[in-house]
Amino acid sequence: METPTIVQVANLEKTYRLGNVTVQALRGVNFTLYQAEFVVITGPSGSGKTTLLNIIGTLDKPSSGTVTIDGEDITGMKDGQLTKLRRHKIGFIFQFHNLIPVLTALENVELPLLTAGMKPKPARERASLMLERVGLKERLTHLPDELSGGEQQRVAIARALANHPKIILADEPTGDLDTKTGSEVVQIMYESAKKENASVLVVTHDPVVADRAEKLFEMRDGIITKGTQQRPREAFRLRAIEPVPPEPARSLSQPN
Ligand SMILES: Nc1ncnc2c1ncn2[C@@H]1O[C@H](COP(=O)(O)OP(=O)(O)OP(=O)(O)O)[C@@H](O)[C@H]1O
Ligand SMILES: [Mg+2]
Repeated sequence: METPTIVQVANLEKTYRLGNVTVQALRGVNFTLYQAEFVVITGPSGSGKTTLLNIIGTLDKPSSGTVTIDGEDITGMKDGQLTKLRRHKIGFIFQFHNLIPVLTALENVELPLLTAGMKPKPARERASLMLERVGLKERLTHLPDELSGGEQQRVAIARALANHPKIILADEPTGDLDTKTGSEVVQIMYESAKKENASVLVVTHDPVVADRAEKLFEMRDGIITKGTQQRPREAFRLRAIEPVPPEPARSLSQPN
């Protein structure tokens, strides 16, 4: 059976106008994302990566061209329809995790589920399961501030995938992390998405992320200039996600 197409972008153009200045951020992008694949787009600063991601994510509108998500043409959709589609089909991961600072890890993952109409009990169960999958079983009640950068991104991954989205869109997900942590985060993103059968589209400057791509594309000046098809998969053997260790007991006295 043919792999289903999840995102289809055709002749996409985006022009920004600021006063007298016009920037053509996208100049005719054609791109297809299939079910459950892990695709990376790299390219120099200003080449249009974030613009493309935001349009696919329905956060921004194209000037012309079409975007089809899971069989639906979104270009003519009203805001209400777009919000619904975004809530149910798309998960986002950004460079800075965008977690809500006053909510615990568990509550941050739960929130979009409740917003999408899930009942509290199944929402809590699903959120716990997702956090366990990304290795954070021992950090459920931590606030974002009480987590490391890598752990915060793990929460963001759990949150993005919690509502069974078809697509994960990630903009520089490792941009704020050191190489080793970044590499762990990509691995977790890859494995968690595969488990959920979700497609992942990452835009990044990070060669560590590009190295892990099943398909790698390059953008320049608002178009996709290079693309590789299926790459060998040996780089990405599935292995168990390493959970973070339990917290040491909080104590003021120093052991002798
Ligand atoms: N809201 C906006 N208003 C006006 N111009 C914009 C806006 N957003 C982006 N641009 C311009 O569009 C072009 C593409 O920007 P975009 O953010 O998509 O690049 P990028 O590839 O994500 O770059 P980076 O790697 O630095 O994140 C740039 O020239 C940018 O200045
Ligand atoms: Mg960008």
